[in-house]
Amino acid sequence: MSNLLVINASPRGDASAGNMAANIFLEALPDSVALTRLDLFDAGLPEVTVEVTSAKMKYAMGLDLDEEEAKQWSVITSLVEQFVRADNYLFVIPMWNFSIPYKLKQYIDLITHPGLTFTRDENGPKGLASGAATVIYSRGGDYSPKDGKPDPYDFQSPYFGAWASLVGLGPVSEVNVQTTMAGPDVLAKVLEAQRPQLVEMASALASS
Ligand SMILES: Cc1cc2nc3c(=O)[nH]c(=O)nc-3n(C[C@H](O)[C@H](O)[C@H](O)COP(=O)(O)O)c2cc1C
Repeated sequence: MSNLLVINASPRGDASAGNMAANIFLEALPDSVALTRLDLFDAGLPEVTVEVTSAKMKYAMGLDLDEEEAKQWSVITSLVEQFVRADNYLFVIPMWNFSIPYKLKQYIDLITHPGLTFTRDENGPKGLASGAATVIYSRGGDYSPKDGKPDPYDFQSPYFGAWASLVGLGPVSEVNVQTTMAGPDVLAKVLEAQRPQLVEMASALASS
C-alpha cells in the first residue's frame, strides 16, 4: 500500500475547478493507494512566529531551543513528517494574482527547512522528500507558452516547480486547467480534455 498526500490550496470546495480535475484523478486511483488529505484553508496552519524563525536558525546551527521554541518547533516537525512520509503527491493549486494562494506559501514556509526537507552536498541542494507529484494548476485565464516562450505573468508554475525540485519531488507532472472563468460549458470541455492524462497519471501510481 502506498500513501498519496493530497494537498489542496483552493478554499472553494466542490466549486473549485482544480478539485474537479483532482476528482477525476482520485476516482481513477488504484485500490493499492491510500489517501491523506490536507485542505490548507481548513488545516488551522500555525503562523511563522518569531519563535519558529528563531528555532529554524538554531536548528540549522545545532543550537539548543528554549521551551517555547521547542514547543512551536514540534508542530513544524509534525507537518514535515506528514509531508516527507508520503510516497506520492497530488497538489491542487489555483492561480491567485499570477502566483500561488497565500495558504500554500504559508505551508511552504512552515515545512521548508535545511536538515528537514532539504540538505546540501557538493552538488548543491538535495531534497529529503521523494515521490512523484501531480500538480493541477487552475487558472481563470490562459497562461500557455506563446511563441515558444513561457507566459511572463505565470509566477505560479515556475515558483512551485522550483520548490518541488528543492524538496526532492519528482517526476513532477503538470495539468493545466485553464480558462476556468469562461463559463461551465468551457470548463466541462477543459476537464474532459484533461481526463485522459489525469486517468493515466493516477493509474501509473499502481506501480509506484
Ligand atoms: C484571489 C483570487 C485571485 C485570482 N487571480 C487570478 C489571476 O491572477 N489570474 C487568473 O487567470 N485567474 C485568477 N483568479 C481566478 C482563479 O485562478 C480561477 O477562478 C481558478 O479556477 C481558481 O481555482 P479553483 O477553481 O480550483 O479554486 C483569481 C481568483 C481569486 C479568488
